[in-house]
Amino acid sequence: MPKGKDPATEITGDPFGPFRSADPARPFVVAQLGQSLDGRIATVSGASKYINGEPALDHLHRIRASVDAVVVGAGTIAADDPQLNVRRVAGPNPARVVIDPTSRLRGPAKWLEPDGTPCMLITREDATSFVIPGVEQIRLPLVDGELSPRAMIDALFARGCRKILIEGGAKTISTFLDAGCIDRLHLLIAPIIIGSGRNGLDLKPIDDLMSALRPATVFYPLGQNEILIDCDLRSAAGGTE
Ligand SMILES: NC(=O)c1ccc[n+]([C@@H]2O[C@H](COP(=O)([O-])OP(=O)(O)OC[C@H]3O[C@@H](n4cnc5c(N)ncnc54)[C@H](OP(=O)(O)O)[C@@H]3O)[C@@H](O)[C@H]2O)c1
Repeated sequence: MPKGKDPATEITGDPFGPFRSADPARPFVVAQLGQSLDGRIATVSGASKYINGEPALDHLHRIRASVDAVVVGAGTIAADDPQLNVRRVAGPNPARVVIDPTSRLRGPAKWLEPDGTPCMLITREDATSFVIPGVEQIRLPLVDGELSPRAMIDALFARGCRKILIEGGAKTISTFLDAGCIDRLHLLIAPIIIGSGRNGLDLKPIDDLMSALRPATVFYPLGQNEILIDCDLRSAAGGTE
């Protein structure tokens, strides 16, 4: 190896290899974040379409087609009304899962459009019962005022969802990452500097850099100067389990 080369950072490999080789006896959880060079996912006013270009969108759909379930928080449904299906590549639709602790989302939404794909709503156990035809409500207890990311993963695993994509948004990915529940983080970096606005990650504060996560990373050019950085969080010191 050339002197000075970081053994944890390479430019070869297959970003879907870890999906295929994951231990079938436990959940495999991947998160994705499409972000600017300065780590933003939206402007101050919330404009986020489209930071990333077609190559990153294609990659997002490839991830969706490679997992059993795609999970987003209520904030993303309210902001973007995503379909959460696979359209840009060939492959099956994953189950669609929305975290809506108080069952605040009402009315029609694209993720609810029936296409034979299972849909699930994760709420706190004392949330108002709100029956949406075709949607399974998964009720979980609060832990320190939040739904436990581990309990959510376990509930999905118990329903046959072994490979799980935490698609967003910022709060949802950050809580799963803080809880040590993410195996891989796919950062999709677009060649744009926003300079202010929403950060992609907002983790619990750390006191010194010894406590920072330092995942092994692999870089993949995606085209149109977009880059995928595949972060192996199981190799990272610090906050993972
Ligand atoms: N760039 C990307 O890759 C990407 C991907 C997806 C979304 N986005 C953007 O992200 C923004 C939305 O992100 P966001 O951070 O505002 O919202 P979010 O993460 O989509 O949703 C957050 C909400 O989900 C619920 N939630 C998530 N985890 C929870 C937990 N552990 N316990 C209890 N409740 C939990 C809470 O709902 P309540 O509020 O009801 O308590 C929470 O406020 C949008 O602008 C969207 O465009 C970007």
